[in-house]
Amino acid sequence: MINELFDLTGQTALITGGGTGLGRQFAITLAEAGATVVLSARRVDKLEATAVEIQQSGGKAHCCAMDVTDSDSIANAFDQASQHGTVTVLVNNAGLSTYPMLIDASEETWDKAQDTNLKGAWMVAKEAATRMIKNEVGGSIINISSALGTAIQKGTGPYATSKAGLLHLTKGMAVEWARYGIRVNAIAPGYFATDLANEFLESEPGKAMVKRIPQRRLGEHENLSGAILLLATEAGAYMTGTTITVDGGHSIATI
Ligand SMILES: NC(=O)c1ccc[n+]([C@@H]2O[C@H](COP(=O)([O-])OP(=O)(O)OC[C@H]3O[C@@H](n4cnc5c(N)ncnc54)[C@H](OP(=O)(O)O)[C@@H]3O)[C@@H](O)[C@H]2O)c1
Repeated sequence: MINELFDLTGQTALITGGGTGLGRQFAITLAEAGATVVLSARRVDKLEATAVEIQQSGGKAHCCAMDVTDSDSIANAFDQASQHGTVTVLVNNAGLSTYPMLIDASEETWDKAQDTNLKGAWMVAKEAATRMIKNEVGGSIINISSALGTAIQKGTGPYATSKAGLLHLTKGMAVEWARYGIRVNAIAPGYFATDLANEFLESEPGKAMVKRIPQRRLGEHENLSGAILLLATEAGAYMTGTTITVDGGHSIATI
């Protein structure tokens, strides 16, 4: 019974940004649960390296190039992914970070954060949901937001705003798509060592910040596996429009 609840055999899961960092971990976890995983991002070499790693562990993994800021590229990637079945699990994980103070941020920096982290997530989810609805398969969409989607830290304004928007987008899509059997939820990670976060984490303010996390450590990538499995599988069947925070207590400890 417990194993069945968390089983993804026969499901196809597409993970954006699936070649590196947290996306790589999500792909490994979903493949271990039995899903055929399709990894998508711009750097195909990174995708292929992760796909090979999953295949060598006995999982089913494929790659397709996708730029989440380009609707044609998104449609092409989903066409390729459909060779492996209709995508029934989408992890909207692609993202970028920026660190300007709001008084210094350029329009270009602002637009880049919103276009990738927020508009990109909406466009990819829209493509996935359109196909889930057409094929009457339902599905689970998981948006990777951030603890900064509800809290704020100086110098993260454009990024934090995009991640806050993603939480509201999650609720909007959950309400509109529930009737089609599509669940939409979010994960809000705290700090994890990845290419995206390392510049800040290796700075003096970054090192000082880690000491203020109640668990006094960064997250291990594997610490996200429980949340992604719960939201992707039947175990989370009555969950939609919600957010799971995985941050070692960081966002409740602002004092
Ligand atoms: N690490 C943390 O502490 C932390 C905390 C909270 C939330 N997050 C979120 O977790 C997600 C993954 O980040 P990460 O920390 O694992 O960093 P990462 O390794 O840099 O992953 C980001 C991924 O997004 C992909 N990406 C960026 N722009 C893209 C685009 N236009 N089209 C397609 N893919 C694109 C990148 O691949 P390509 O460059 O090859 O396209 C890369 O694989 C992000 O949404 C991030 O905001 C991370």
